[in-house]
Amino acid sequence: MEGLFGRFRLLLAPMAGVSDAAMRCLCAQQGADLAYTEMVSAKGLSFANDKTRHLLDMEPQERWAGVQLFGHEPHTMAAQAAWIEQEMGERLACIDINMGCPACKIVSKGDGSALMKDPMLAADIVSAVRAAVACPVTVKMRRGWSADEGECAPAFAQRMEAAGADAVCVHGRFSTQMYQGSSDRGVIARVKEALSIPVIGNGDVRCGADAVRMRDETGCDAIMIARGAQGNPWIFAEARAALAGMPVPASPTAIERIDMARRHASLLQRREGRVLVRMRKHAMWYVAGLPGAAAARGALNRCVTCEDFDQVFDQLMERATEHGA
Ligand SMILES: Cc1cc2nc3c(=O)[nH]c(=O)nc-3n(C[C@H](O)[C@H](O)[C@H](O)COP(=O)(O)O)c2cc1C
Repeated sequence: MEGLFGRFRLLLAPMAGVSDAAMRCLCAQQGADLAYTEMVSAKGLSFANDKTRHLLDMEPQERWAGVQLFGHEPHTMAAQAAWIEQEMGERLACIDINMGCPACKIVSKGDGSALMKDPMLAADIVSAVRAAVACPVTVKMRRGWSADEGECAPAFAQRMEAAGADAVCVHGRFSTQMYQGSSDRGVIARVKEALSIPVIGNGDVRCGADAVRMRDETGCDAIMIARGAQGNPWIFAEARAALAGMPVPASPTAIERIDMARRHASLLQRREGRVLVRMRKHAMWYVAGLPGAAAARGALNRCVTCEDFDQVFDQLMERATEHGA
């Protein structure tokens, strides 16, 4: 595990519909040590589904990526993890197993956070995947299923360690909370206390000061950031500076944000699939709060070609220049 967790790491979280190769690249350029793919269906891969396979696409300049798999059949998970390792070779940093997704269409099939209710099956999946690949195997989990059923993450994580997990990532919310309320850092500290493998802290890290709190209050070995990186790949540079006790870099100017949106769009253009929907989503995040953002939002929704996006960015750039940003 030395390669992955030899020093304190900053990670871009797996985000379905968001953490594609374009976003991973931009976050790595801003200091993310490792970025995860969107969650990938082991079943979809086993059917050689093209749409599922494209989730594994990487940019040429990407050094490595963590691939997150979801599913509930140990043999399918193991077989697909082995296939991914064969396909990606050295560029596969780790296989992460999704035991945290709370979405109805996922948990209704017994996948994602539903596995936290079945620790025996969850452990079988981890040991099957562990036996199938040479790369590190990590587990991403939540605090537990629900507040009524109580916190189970420390005991659950111990079982995952015993089953062969090389690290666990804990998001400090219950599954039934979805994204409501705040993420509990105490549970991450309790998991860290209970395990000897590295623990990745996740939840509500939105700025450098949050990253420092996460590290200092939990003792975690790495921090994973999801929503804080949407339209804001600079968060990794900010977190890195704050964790090192250095002054945090100035916030990006309007012009830098529009430039980044353009770079993001141009990386996305080269990808397969529903690029426009993704481009709209990311563009909205980048321009939020800029002069002219309200009008730009409407215009972005009407964009149907990449040239349309360019025009909106040009207009925003004009406004930003007028404002001396
Ligand atoms: C749009 C979106 C998509 C997500 N997709 C995934 C996913 O595919 N796999 C996963 O384990 N977690 C997924 N998550 C959860 C995040 O990885 C992370 O655990 C959660 O957002 C808490 O971190 P944050 O407070 O930094 O956002 C997703 C979150 C968001 C907002």
